[in-house]
Amino acid sequence: MLPLKIENLIKTYPGGQHAVKGLSFDVRPGEIFGLLGPNGAGKTTIISTITTLEKPSSGVVEVFGQDVTQNARFTKKQLGVVHQEIINSGFFDVEEILQFQSGYYGISRNKERIDFLLHKLSLYEHRRKKVKQLSGGMKRRLMIAKALVHTPKLLLLDEPTAGVDIGLRETLWQFVQELRKEGMSILLTTHYLEEAEQLCDRIGIINLGSLECLGETKELVRQYTQKKIRLTLTEAFPIQSEYLFIQEGLEFSFVVPPGKLMGEFLAETRIPVNIIKDVKIEEGTLEEAFMKVVRS
Ligand SMILES: Nc1ncnc2c1ncn2[C@@H]1O[C@H](COP(=O)(O)OP(=O)(O)OP(=O)(O)O)[C@@H](O)[C@H]1O
Ligand SMILES: [Mg+2]
Repeated sequence: MLPLKIENLIKTYPGGQHAVKGLSFDVRPGEIFGLLGPNGAGKTTIISTITTLEKPSSGVVEVFGQDVTQNARFTKKQLGVVHQEIINSGFFDVEEILQFQSGYYGISRNKERIDFLLHKLSLYEHRRKKVKQLSGGMKRRLMIAKALVHTPKLLLLDEPTAGVDIGLRETLWQFVQELRKEGMSILLTTHYLEEAEQLCDRIGIINLGSLECLGETKELVRQYTQKKIRLTLTEAFPIQSEYLFIQEGLEFSFVVPPGKLMGEFLAETRIPVNIIKDVKIEEGTLEEAFMKVVRS
């Protein structure tokens, strides 16, 4: 059963803003799926339709085989959500908030799970602080803990690391990977493309409400970027290569198709191996692929 299935989703807001224009994708069991796109692309709108905060104008949104509009009680139980906007009431402390949140899901004694999450999200020492005493990054981590108290099967993360410092971001990503290993499926939006590249099994790039491309992360990078090879020679050599991009003294930069074999490339340049001083290879990145997709 697919954790999430979205088919021909259209969302037009009252006032006529076409936020999502007929878009389809799935999240498969146990995968981390990255939904990427520039500001205003429609990512949060899609997440809002999954959580039934917004109603689709048309199309199908299913969580574990159930339509979210027809069976909201069931689907909400399967979901954990971290919203992009920070929303927490300031009156209670961190631990109390997590207890209340457990209560919403009918779990009355949840201390073990709550302590586990407090430790994992580096909030344990702050558990007695009221929300208004927390820093921005702590508030966001509290939202993540809240989303996880009932051990959801599908986790929706809308920019979970915005405002989280670099060290804690690393810890957070490790935690997300642990959750995935335990079988949780995850839908993630982020503007940190390096993280998305490391973390996501598959990625969909959306722009202006339409899906521009979808595929395995590595495959997208291969498809939309080129490989750069830099050779430094010990002496001058007349290189004839269709891939030669720039020459500076004894340094030669080449841009080659991603699938090109190194041996084949070197053989074509006819450079004697003994005058090659150094070879540097730069693979394409998701950031490059993203820019290409979004700009085209
Ligand atoms: N409640 C709303 N009413 C009307 N228009 C909206 C509403 N929410 C979002 N929009 C519009 O819908 C489009 C998509 O917005 P959305 O928030 O889904 O983008 P996003 O991809 O999440 O962007 P970001 O990266 O900035 O979070 C934008 O043009 C936005 O102005
Ligand atoms: Mg958003």
